Amino acid sequence: MAISQKVKKEYFALVAELNKHNDLYHKKDSPEISDQEYDQLFKRLLLLESEFPNIKATNSPSERVGSEPVSGLKPFNHQIPMLSLDNAFDDKDLEDFEKRFLNKLKRKESYSYSCEPKIDGIAICLVYRDGILTRAGTRGDGNTGEEVTHNVKTMKEVPIQLKKNKDYPFPKEIEIRGEIYVEKKDFLNLNERFKKEGQKVFANPRNFAAGSMRQLNPKVASARPLKVFCHSLGYVDGNTLFDSQSSVIKAFQSWGLPTCPEISLVSNLEETKKAFSKIAMQREKLVYEIDGVVIKINEIPLQQELGFSSRAPRWAIARKFEAEQAETKINSISFQMGRTGALTPVANLEPVKVGGVTISNATLHNMDEVERLDVRERDYVFIKRAGDVIPKIVSVIKEKRSGSEKKIKLPSFCSVCKREISYFEENIPCLEILLESEFSEGCYGYDQFKESLKHFVSRNAMDIEGLGSKTIDALISNKFISSITDLYSLDINQLLSLEGFAEKSAKNLIDSISKSKETELYRFIYSLGIKEIGLQTSKNIARELGTLENIIKTNYERFIQVEDIGEVAASNLVSFFTSQKYLQILENFKNLNFNLSNEISNNQESHLQNKKIVITGTLNSFSRNELKEVLEKMGAKVSSAVSKNTDYLISGSDPGSKIKKASELSIQIIDEDELSSFLQNDQ
Ligand code: IVH
Repeated sequence: MAISQKVKKEYFALVAELNKHNDLYHKKDSPEISDQEYDQLFKRLLLLESEFPNIKATNSPSERVGSEPVSGLKPFNHQIPMLSLDNAFDDKDLEDFEKRFLNKLKRKESYSYSCEPKIDGIAICLVYRDGILTRAGTRGDGNTGEEVTHNVKTMKEVPIQLKKNKDYPFPKEIEIRGEIYVEKKDFLNLNERFKKEGQKVFANPRNFAAGSMRQLNPKVASARPLKVFCHSLGYVDGNTLFDSQSSVIKAFQSWGLPTCPEISLVSNLEETKKAFSKIAMQREKLVYEIDGVVIKINEIPLQQELGFSSRAPRWAIARKFEAEQAETKINSISFQMGRTGALTPVANLEPVKVGGVTISNATLHNMDEVERLDVRERDYVFIKRAGDVIPKIVSVIKEKRSGSEKKIKLPSFCSVCKREISYFEENIPCLEILLESEFSEGCYGYDQFKESLKHFVSRNAMDIEGLGSKTIDALISNKFISSITDLYSLDINQLLSLEGFAEKSAKNLIDSISKSKETELYRFIYSLGIKEIGLQTSKNIARELGTLENIIKTNYERFIQVEDIGEVAASNLVSFFTSQKYLQILENFKNLNFNLSNEISNNQESHLQNKKIVITGTLNSFSRNELKEVLEKMGAKVSSAVSKNTDYLISGSDPGSKIKKASELSIQIIDEDELSSFLQNDQ
């Protein structure tokens, strides 16, 4: 099935955004978003790529592990790629990791896990020939990094010559990988000094370490307190000497290489969770920054059997910490009017950095949340940025109260137009400004209309590109739009009179508005912003009632029969579709020649959409044809031969040669006893 424009747009925007942040992080050492935010975007990218394998862009960040080297330093080619690690954000992700590799191993095997702090520094590889440090390189794009031997040789912690040890004779050539970092206190002291001297300050210790390594002049690195923890092996000359990760660490120690003291060996997944919690508790006290715990299968033969995907080993995963918290003060509280007439309290904060990003306001969601937290103006609070972009207030530091804090009260009327708040709730959705002259910027009525417009043009609604918050402000304040349908009579000269528009952007916006007239019925219903009518409910309405004309004629008894619709949603629909005001707006839409189609792809949400699946062997629960039909209904493509493009091989008894080929190509194999959970996406 073709990939929708919407998905493509989201996907390519994500690729561009992630590449931009990769660049800022790796080349410029000055990130603009936190790691958590990056991880969140990356997770979404991986999801889209797994749902739509054909979409993958050649410049997708999932194909790369870092970024290409910056010029100036010599390139350093890695004999074995320096890869990244997959992330786990919760226990479930860890359990999935274990299931994945067990599924791949296809047999019971005993194994243990090495749990190691994930050092927030920069990856380095140290090449020792006959025990002498000959070269050092950064990761770069995983294949080619930068040669930084001149800088690494200035680091006191890195031995120029390895110590001899009879238990661990070092091979002729060995590449040791680790992380260069700087201790928290050193980072703070130096950054403070740089600030005073007017030099570049660094966002975090990792950027500091990276910036120090990326110097042509070794004097800079030699003057900085850089340290290293060695954690893994790269290329090793001859046969591997080691049977486990713990013996690798022991060998490093015996050779005089620094290793992280907080590494522990555990015997099952439950214990990795405990090890993670333990390290999380110690985090604050550790002298170095960490951003998670790396969990590695300890047995090297198993590691070798599992191998690598294109970007990460299958035998290790990084269990990441939740977002960081920070302490700050609430300077004041303001209220934001939403399109449904509800006011959201927002805390205006004393700006504070969390995970490298400056935060100056946080949402309090609603008055229940204000009460639950007992938060007041001028309180000191802890704030948190989780995967989500909007920062949250976690708790109030009551011990810091001075008595001057002010309780937060919901305003009872708009301070500009003086209308009571109930007016805005009753007049929802606000698809037009009724008393235009009385609404001006800063007024709740203005905000409500603006939010309605933003919702109307948003991606899941009418999907009109190029209408951001600023443009909407300009359109309203210039009185180009006072009702939602005015959007469709905008002309190019009006747009050209606004700041920021040129011929091309103005034309694109007009095209995008006009294109939106051909859309699916469910999007149009959703775009109206009727309270309680979300995207899924809009789809249900469109599917069951078919046309806008039908919907307008539908009564309460019929609405309530629509899937997912309860009493409140049904009565909201009835009040909307019986209101003279809204019927007039719908009439205006009709006169604009909207063409609302009623196609909803039910396949879209299946986890097997576009997956290429091969069936082999004899199955008990299905005939091959029956299974093929089921899979195809779920959007999968069933083919007869295994190739590198195959996503899954479903295998019954007596599978034949396909299973061998699938294992060689590292294709996931699903046995009959896993089939039902596979079909339900419950693996
Ligand atoms: S093992 C194939 N162990 O995290 C990668 N990596 O996000 C195996 N890192 O490139 C690496 N602490 O630079 C390993 N204890 C640790 C680590 C660690 C930090 C870095 C490493 C890697 C990156 C992946």
